[in-house]
Amino acid sequence: MDPRWWHTAVIYQIYPRSFQDSNGDGIGDIKGIISRLDYLHTLGINAIWLSPVYKSPNVDNGYDISDYRDIMDEFGSIEDMDELISEAAKYDIKIIMDLVVNHTSDQHPWFIEAKKGKDNKYRDYYIWRNPVDGNVPNNLRSSFGGSAWEFDKYSGQYYLHLFSKHQPDLNWENEKVRQEVWDLMNFWLEKGVGGFRMDVIDLIGKVPDEEITSNGPKLHEYLQEMNRKTFGKYDVLTVGETWGATPDIAKLFSNPERKELSMVFQFEHICLDQQEGMEKWDLKPLQIKELKRVIAKWQTALGKKGWNSLFWNNHDLPRIVSRWGNDKQYHSESAKMLAILLHMLRGTPYIYQGEEIGMTNYPISSIEEVDDIESRNMYYERLAKGYSKREILESIKAKGRDNARTPMQWDDTENAGFTKGTPWLHVNPNYHQINVKKNLENPNSIFYTYQQLIRVRKENPIITWGDFQLIENTEEEVFAYYRKLGNEKWLIVANFSESESVFSSEDVVKKVIMSNYKQNNINLSNKRLKPYEAFVVRI
Ligand code: GLC
Ligand code: CA
Repeated sequence: MDPRWWHTAVIYQIYPRSFQDSNGDGIGDIKGIISRLDYLHTLGINAIWLSPVYKSPNVDNGYDISDYRDIMDEFGSIEDMDELISEAAKYDIKIIMDLVVNHTSDQHPWFIEAKKGKDNKYRDYYIWRNPVDGNVPNNLRSSFGGSAWEFDKYSGQYYLHLFSKHQPDLNWENEKVRQEVWDLMNFWLEKGVGGFRMDVIDLIGKVPDEEITSNGPKLHEYLQEMNRKTFGKYDVLTVGETWGATPDIAKLFSNPERKELSMVFQFEHICLDQQEGMEKWDLKPLQIKELKRVIAKWQTALGKKGWNSLFWNNHDLPRIVSRWGNDKQYHSESAKMLAILLHMLRGTPYIYQGEEIGMTNYPISSIEEVDDIESRNMYYERLAKGYSKREILESIKAKGRDNARTPMQWDDTENAGFTKGTPWLHVNPNYHQINVKKNLENPNSIFYTYQQLIRVRKENPIITWGDFQLIENTEEEVFAYYRKLGNEKWLIVANFSESESVFSSEDVVKKVIMSNYKQNNINLSNKRLKPYEAFVVRI
């Protein structure tokens, strides 16, 4: 594969609402981000994936856009955005925009026009259907609960919304819609952005009448057209959010010969603690055996015909240290183990804000504390179905999206240094112990593990280009693998458990590259592993 900058890059995701407030209104903003570029430079990242900053009524915190060429008032102005792009460039940091074009806000002028009647010239920008037997056209469901069809009294038709009813789906069959999207993408490309993260992009080829939503027949045709008409001429990163991807599908998106995207986010590993065929709220314990199988599959299956993205967290997912680590007794050890395990894989790593300091889930106790539309809709839907409050709150505590959205914990001053006003969402009460300032002061902190992982990746092509091989016959909780490039061979061992374990191999360690417990030398014959121990060695 031709090497591109994003093969060796590490990306940092910012959820602007919760990153840094600069003017005391309790809401993070672009100026706040600019003031923290120095911190991100210290961490060593190459690009920021910026969750949506466009004009939005914020029904889904910016994932409902009413103007793709302007900035949400609370976040600042288009001038601030230009400044962010140019200030970040001084640190060699690129800005990757969130492209939310499966749907718009219902406040977007296109939809306001479309609602005016069947012969409005924007009508066909959206997906309208007549009632069937006086009811919804079919059984399509919204990801946020209920039917995906909303009745519009004025015209007597339903429109499609795969998310909330305030997020009507665009009609990608309409050439004019596609042209609008190419135009707005080019608007941002001309501003010098570093690429796009594409929101639920595998839904754009939907065939509503056949109840096909993801991976529809024209999806790849549209993406190839997008590539040709927009970013294909630029040296940018594109990453698609594709919940329905298998390795074969991921290759369709990311095989360079096909000229579609750089890579996709696949979610197979992330769904392993969810009961089969059920919703994300229906939990089951993670089996390490399964995690190893799924990660190994993705590491090897894409080969030279695709590229992996590597992540544990984003703004939709619970905090990994609370989810699959231990956010109490082994907070630091488990956070570092998870980081080492992920960052030594083949692919482009993504760090979600606060992950690098081990931020945890928020201990909610009542629905009043919840902002997220997905959690709130589910709460009332399940209450009506007879679930107990306690049961529902347990699910939200474990999986709710607000876990990732509480304000960034900068220091131990009021509101964790996020705002001088009242934060839009509660700050996690553990900010006195877990914050950036403390991490920067402690050479053994989680932060410095991330910093080291980024540096080691930059210095060693084996991490980007080496082959991956899972080591099969280990104890179940031990996740061990080799990376190999030419004559060089690395071994990564992670004890995915709070109990001690043993790992044994005939390999001889030439050099300890890094470890989350202090050790200068490692003997691999019957190596005893401490709780959540992880190390990387050259053999
Ligand atoms: C994606 C986003 C999520 C949003 C949804 C609808 O899954 O990551 O935050 O709610 O799309 O845009
Ligand atoms: Ca603000």
